[in-house]
Amino acid sequence: MTALLEVKGLKVQVEDNEILHGLDLTVNAGQVHAIMGPNGSGKSTLSHVIAGKPGYEVTGGEILFKGEDLLEMEPDERAAKGVFLAFQYPVEIPGVTTMNFLHTALNAQRKARGEIELMAPEFLKKVREIAKSLNIPMDMLKRGVNVGFSGGEKKRNEVLQMGLFQPSLCILDEMDSGLDIDALRIAADGVNALRSPERAMVVITHYQRLLNYIVPDVVHVMSKGRVVKSGGKELALELEKSGYAQYEGKAA
Ligand SMILES: Nc1ncnc2c1ncn2[C@@H]1O[C@H](COP(=O)(O)OP(=O)(O)OP(=O)(O)O)[C@@H](O)[C@H]1O
Ligand SMILES: [Mg+2]
Repeated sequence: MTALLEVKGLKVQVEDNEILHGLDLTVNAGQVHAIMGPNGSGKSTLSHVIAGKPGYEVTGGEILFKGEDLLEMEPDERAAKGVFLAFQYPVEIPGVTTMNFLHTALNAQRKARGEIELMAPEFLKKVREIAKSLNIPMDMLKRGVNVGFSGGEKKRNEVLQMGLFQPSLCILDEMDSGLDIDALRIAADGVNALRSPERAMVVITHYQRLLNYIVPDVVHVMSKGRVVKSGGKELALELEKSGYAQYEGKAA
């Protein structure tokens, strides 16, 4: 199996506070990894640093994506290479319709990869198809990006982007928070439809329930800025029962 993502000894600071203290994580193509861990253990920080969100200082270690140094790339370059993050808290972009945003972002990625841009009719057809599968009304896509979207609608919009961009590494940060029971199943189906031997997913979640829908190959426990335990999908069930207390000391 080829490693798609290799995080080695990653140390990250925010405003002089070290949040990740030497984190290791390897994700192979074709795999789904789940990351669980207490609030504040650094899960979102890791996802932000991989996606290239500004405001974080990497003070040690490296991140390789398909063998290339990811930290050397601008965020849009990472997206064009196939890195995608579905945010825990998707941002609102007033003044830009969702439709326009999706079209522009998709074509920017295609252009960066030397592919031809998608014209409106072809693009519309794709979006319609994916939106329908996710139960997203087309009217919603005429509104500003995430503006006034309910929590669950924002999450569905992230999965829509994923379906459209077809990234090779999908990081889903608490995709299940805010989704109702039916929406969770629909969104999980959307994610599962993207599973392929060339692609990998990293699913950050607090709840084992999501992992009944998106069954992971590997489950990691993060505590205090490190991965402190990795195992199979049974690890999530074990955590549900026993909580994180046994791991809290390990990262000190
Ligand atoms: N911009 C920032 N300034 C100061 N501290 C920050 C900043 N961003 C993150 N942190 C701190 O880093 C730690 C890790 O935060 P992070 O959001 O990565 O946790 P998490 O594991 O995603 O938690 P949750 O499960 O609640 O989403 C927290 O203690 C948080 O307060
Ligand atoms: Mg988080």
